[in-house]
Amino acid sequence: MRKPLFATVAALLLTLPAAHAEQPAADLHLSPPVRGLLQQEMREVARGTQTLAVALATADWKTLHDTAAMIRSSYIMNKQLTAAQKHELEHALPAGFKQLDAEFHARAEKLALAAEARDHELAAFHYSRLVESCAVCHSGYARSRFPGFAPFTPPAHGH
Ligand code: HEC
Repeated sequence: MRKPLFATVAALLLTLPAAHAEQPAADLHLSPPVRGLLQQEMREVARGTQTLAVALATADWKTLHDTAAMIRSSYIMNKQLTAAQKHELEHALPAGFKQLDAEFHARAEKLALAAEARDHELAAFHYSRLVESCAVCHSGYARSRFPGFAPFTPPAHGH
């Protein structure tokens, strides 16, 4: 199968400093139902991320811990998938995506531990790295959904 040109161009333009060097820039190829489940999972994670910000700002350690722990254990694979959908995910998700996903969950775990230790500075550090990991994955695997990751091109001069 030929690679679509835009994917090749996007791979060349992937210049986010935090992005992993081996990471290809291409959208995931998922069937509509599995994509729907991923989007649902993402919306839950996004709500949790907002809760984390407020909990961090107010030293609400219990909410910080519980929400980080919830994000850590939320895997799309744990959703109610048919055997065929599980199989699809196993094969459709590139290794780079799985690695970013694993790092993302590991970061949520570190944040939960920092909350348990009531270490504000450490929790703030892991929170910022957590949000960064969202952006790294989106810039590599969800460019069509989030076109804002495209490199900035200054407007041409003249009218
Ligand atoms: C390992 C990869 C990965 C990580 C980590 C990740 N995302 Fe996503 N996210 C995706 C992909 C891929 C999509 C696009 C799904 C699609 O529409 O095809 C997406 C879509 C979304 C969406 C749109 C959902 C919708 O309704 O269409 C939101 C919101 C979102 N992510 C939030 C987050 C936040 C917040 C984080 C971090 C706390 C995060 N994501 C971490 C891969 C990731």
